[in-house]
Amino acid sequence: MSRIHEALKKAEQERAASQASLAPIGAPTTGAPIITGNEASPAVAIGTLAAEAPFPPLARSFGSPAEIDSPLARCPQVQWNPDERTMLFFNGSEASRGAEEFRTLRSRLYHSREKMLLKKVLVTSALPKEGKSFTAANLAQVLARQHGRRVLLIDADLRGPRLHTMLGAAASPGLSDFIKGAVDEFSIMQRGPMENLFFVPAGGELSNPAELVASERLKLFMQRVENLFDWVIIDSPPAVPVSDASVLAKLCEGVVIVVRSNATPMDAARRVREEFPDQLLVGVVLNGIEHQPNGYLQYYDETYNQKTTES
Ligand SMILES: Nc1ncnc2c1ncn2[C@@H]1O[C@H](COP(=O)(O)OP(=O)(O)OP(=O)(O)O)[C@@H](O)[C@H]1O
Ligand SMILES: [Mg+2]
Repeated sequence: MSRIHEALKKAEQERAASQASLAPIGAPTTGAPIITGNEASPAVAIGTLAAEAPFPPLARSFGSPAEIDSPLARCPQVQWNPDERTMLFFNGSEASRGAEEFRTLRSRLYHSREKMLLKKVLVTSALPKEGKSFTAANLAQVLARQHGRRVLLIDADLRGPRLHTMLGAAASPGLSDFIKGAVDEFSIMQRGPMENLFFVPAGGELSNPAELVASERLKLFMQRVENLFDWVIIDSPPAVPVSDASVLAKLCEGVVIVVRSNATPMDAARRVREEFPDQLLVGVVLNGIEHQPNGYLQYYDETYNQKTTES
């Protein structure tokens, strides 16, 4: 059993012991691990950021990103108004709360990349509201912050798209419009204020998202654009209630699973873990932990550092 696995298990046991009365129905309060990771599946714990509240859009204008080479120059340059409380890398500070954890996740992905082909990464979780979109968006940003790394962030949650709201970006044209054949691939990749970060929103509403996610047109889109980017990060619907994430995973080399602290029931975490083959699992994010000095975040880091030293 890896140290990461042990850390997740201990965190879950501590949570279950202290919150037994709040545990979701059907979740054991002690015992089995929630995720079976492996040496190739790094885990990162992310704290809860500012309390959720309506965020006033900022009327801001951004400078033009540096000129990029064609064919991406054909992508529309647009203004975004990112929610700077949860989009951690737009405010110019490298020290936002939570930013360090995303840098750690980035390092772990590069570590995995040394051993395998890894460019297209799906971010998913068992259930709604566990932080998939939050994780996908910040992961894409932290990757794009590295000099010369070009990143495409795709909202493939055609059932409940949210990335455009988080980024304060236009909701369409997007992926669904390309799949329907209404637009070409360059029309749906927005260039925003962060150099090297491109974004594809989900696009116009659809009556049959499952069918479209499985369509040949989506494969075609990936084939056409993947060589233009160093990383492609894909946000998805929850994996347990609907099959879209499993279908999307077939287009990717890696899957990052988000588990929300004090929220994801253990059986749901186990089910989402079983949904994907071992070789696809490249990361586990434990999202929304409480920051406690000398609490289990510290335990967790120490555990991971120990693992890194030993390996
Ligand atoms: N670590 C965190 N700190 C503070 N807020 C967070 C954190 N993680 C997620 N959130 C917030 O929780 C809400 C749900 O997160 P998010 O939309 O990323 O979940 P999701 O798993 O993508 O949900 P859905 O399945 O509905 O798409 C959002 O308002 C997001 O900003
Ligand atoms: Mg989402």
